[in-house]
Amino acid sequence: MAKKLMHALQYSGYGGGPSGLKHVEVPVPTPNKDEVLLKLEAASLNPFDWKVQKGMLWPLLPRKFPHIPGTDVAGEVVQVGPDVKNFKAGDKVVAIVNPLSGGGLAELTVTKESLTVARPPEVSAATAVGLPVAGLTAHQALFQSAGIKLDGSCQQSNILITAASGGVGHYAVQLAKLGNTHVTATCGSRNIEFIKSLGADEVLDYKTPEGAALKSPSGRKYDAVIHCATGIPWSTFEPNLSASGKVIDITPGIKAVMSFAVGKLTFSKKQLVPLLLAPKAENLDYLIKLVREGKLKTVIDSKYPLTKAEEAWTKSIDGHATGKIIVEA
Ligand SMILES: NC(=O)c1ccc[n+]([C@@H]2O[C@H](COP(=O)([O-])OP(=O)(O)OC[C@H]3O[C@@H](n4cnc5c(N)ncnc54)[C@H](OP(=O)(O)O)[C@@H]3O)[C@@H](O)[C@H]2O)c1
Repeated sequence: MAKKLMHALQYSGYGGGPSGLKHVEVPVPTPNKDEVLLKLEAASLNPFDWKVQKGMLWPLLPRKFPHIPGTDVAGEVVQVGPDVKNFKAGDKVVAIVNPLSGGGLAELTVTKESLTVARPPEVSAATAVGLPVAGLTAHQALFQSAGIKLDGSCQQSNILITAASGGVGHYAVQLAKLGNTHVTATCGSRNIEFIKSLGADEVLDYKTPEGAALKSPSGRKYDAVIHCATGIPWSTFEPNLSASGKVIDITPGIKAVMSFAVGKLTFSKKQLVPLLLAPKAENLDYLIKLVREGKLKTVIDSKYPLTKAEEAWTKSIDGHATGKIIVEA
């Protein structure tokens, strides 16, 4: 019997940006025993998506061509594999798709049960779907790498968040303020009031000399930097760090790693900590709960229908989103 077809966006080789993306009809995937098949309500884009297309993760990703991009999805379960215990058809969920297989920018997609969580009705699909990669990265950076307790139960620390207006940064500011922190943030001038409204204590315009130097206006030294921007050398961070301050670098470049390694020769306790997201459903569930309780919000930069997802792709490549870029089915 012929397989049912669905609408998806895919590319067949490296490069090409938005014009490399094609709208196609492909067979609906079948969930494996530990997977759920969900009908897409919303997806969100991350720089990861177009970096894979550019070949920046070659030869690891994508595993094969053609490739349907997209990792962050929210939708309704339509079918479950035989070993799936916690979900059934009709459940509303949010999930992170296996980046090796991709598949998020499609009418239907499969996700592992282990990376799928329930979405309560109070949290919209568009709001929930911002969280998987960006929210979990902010959470991992603060909680795991920087050691900030998000219930406020640890000693006060000074945190710097670079690119605070982006997908990861805007969650990082809000999560950091749930802990006992003083937050300095960097963003462009148009977003200063917005970042203050998320709770940042002081905000630097990254295009000014003070902003470029990352100097805290109140003279603080940072115990941790959640570094969501790119291209800032270790020599800029180093004088702004407390004696054992850490830079949690979510896009570590070889230059930063090298100059940090040279700095280590001086026996400094300051550290550069590269971060690679290791997504966990329990953390995604925690973030969804924070949203439901009104303690965390997803700021939506823009929304596009799946039929115009290449426009969302262009917006993400431009690198000037404020919050998350959402694609709706
Ligand atoms: N390691 C991991 O597992 C992991 C996970 C998630 C993300 N990442 C990486 O983390 C980076 C950030 O991701 P994202 O989703 O937050 O990106 P994004 O949403 O595309 O970030 C865009 C924002 O960054 C701001 N920005 C750019 N350069 C800046 C600078 N030098 N100083 C201050 N603000 C700056 C822009 O402000 P203006 O418009 O004002 O310029 C814009 O608001 C990406 O490189 C991504 O690939 C890594």
